[in-house]
Amino acid sequence: MLSGDQPVIELRQVKKRYAPDIVALDEVDLAISKGEFVFLTGPSGAGKSTLLRMLYKAEEPTGGSIIIDGVELSSLSKSQIPQLRRKVGVIFQDFKLLFNRTVFENVALSLEVLGLKKDQLAARVRQVVDGVGLSAKLHRKVVQLSGGEQQRVAIARAVVNRPPIILADEPTGNLDRKRTMEVLALMDELNARGASIMIATHDDSLFNNTHRRVLRLKDGKIEEL
Ligand SMILES: Nc1ncnc2c1ncn2[C@@H]1O[C@H](COP(=O)(O)OP(=O)(O)OP(=O)(O)O)[C@@H](O)[C@H]1O
Ligand SMILES: [Mg+2]
Repeated sequence: MLSGDQPVIELRQVKKRYAPDIVALDEVDLAISKGEFVFLTGPSGAGKSTLLRMLYKAEEPTGGSIIIDGVELSSLSKSQIPQLRRKVGVIFQDFKLLFNRTVFENVALSLEVLGLKKDQLAARVRQVVDGVGLSAKLHRKVVQLSGGEQQRVAIARAVVNRPPIILADEPTGNLDRKRTMEVLALMDELNARGASIMIATHDDSLFNNTHRRVLRLKDGKIEEL
């Protein structure tokens, strides 16, 4: 369970340096409350993906601390990382799908650890795949799908186990306007059901005229728009 008033995502003085002259994040402080829906923007190379990767411990900060749902990530042992990853659904910028497996298999994979019965699992997968408009392609191999369809599989896989935190890295990068709107509506729905959401994007049209919180990464710092 996510608890009370403490932020669900917190960065304290987080620094990420890849090389002496490449500082992706420079002592960033940030707090995201439970149930918030935030956009993270900034130019290409600003560090958006880097920030997201550190939140599920795919990357370590050079300094500072990151606290997810009350847990300091640097204190997690390797064997505790799967526990963190179950709380955090990630839509990767490069999808990371199993291209020779079907849509169903890709989405089902994140559910297998939950120990659902076979028919429960299949029902859940169908429902989520339907939610991203891919029912007709449930048993197609991912390699046979278009870029936009693959992106939607990646979204379905990230949300199928109903994680309390969803991180999405350019989740609409390959989608046309109509599909982009559908994905945003899906995110809204997940947010309404309680998920905390962070979407990294350089596409201003996603958050122009939004009432959502917008953070911009620039020169290693975060500013609120
Ligand atoms: N593994 C790495 N090794 C060295 N430098 C890296 C590595 N990953 C990222 N960088 C550098 O860190 C900076 C931030 O990269 P990052 O991928 O986080 O940017 P981004 O905001 O996600 O960009 P985009 O909008 O293009 O996806 C860039 O200067 C990038 O070249
Ligand atoms: Mg990126």
